[in-house]
Amino acid sequence: MKSVRMAVVALCCLSTGAFGQDIAAGQDTFLHYCATCHGAEALGNGPMSPVLLVQPKNLTLLAAENDGVFPVGRVIWRIDGRDPLASHGSSMPVYGDFFEGRGTAIRGEDGVLIMSSKPIVDLIAWLQSIQKEAGN
Ligand code: HEC
Repeated sequence: MKSVRMAVVALCCLSTGAFGQDIAAGQDTFLHYCATCHGAEALGNGPMSPVLLVQPKNLTLLAAENDGVFPVGRVIWRIDGRDPLASHGSSMPVYGDFFEGRGTAIRGEDGVLIMSSKPIVDLIAWLQSIQKEAGN
């Protein structure tokens, strides 16, 4: 019985990607914490964007603007504040360890492991799933 349950668990996790990323959970996190500024579809046009001096970025073009490679590290560091730019004059909040610490690893675009949290790793999976090509 136990082994059957283990197999089911293994199957479920395989279908969510190499790091067990959950795209739907990532979208939930985004809608909850990011959409007010970046918009529900991450196009940069959330309800709060008109009152911001610096406009939120269109997050569907992150890969297109980076030679087709999704900048995993930059996005994570931007959210948790490890990106030094984050603390200098941006109206975007720094979330730090708010998303339950840094107990989850994800591979960056250069193959190096980056420690982050499960909600952020899921969020990255959703953002990767909505990337568009330049000009679209
Ligand atoms: C209060 C408004 C606000 C909220 C909430 C917000 N952002 Fe932002 N975000 C901005 C603004 C403004 C910028 C552009 C200026 C900058 O980079 O600092 C930005 C920039 C970014 C960038 C940088 C893009 C690049 O080209 O490097 C990423 C990634 C990002 N946001 C992701 C998120 C995520 C994920 C969340 C939710 C966890 C979030 N933001 C919540 C306002 C916001």
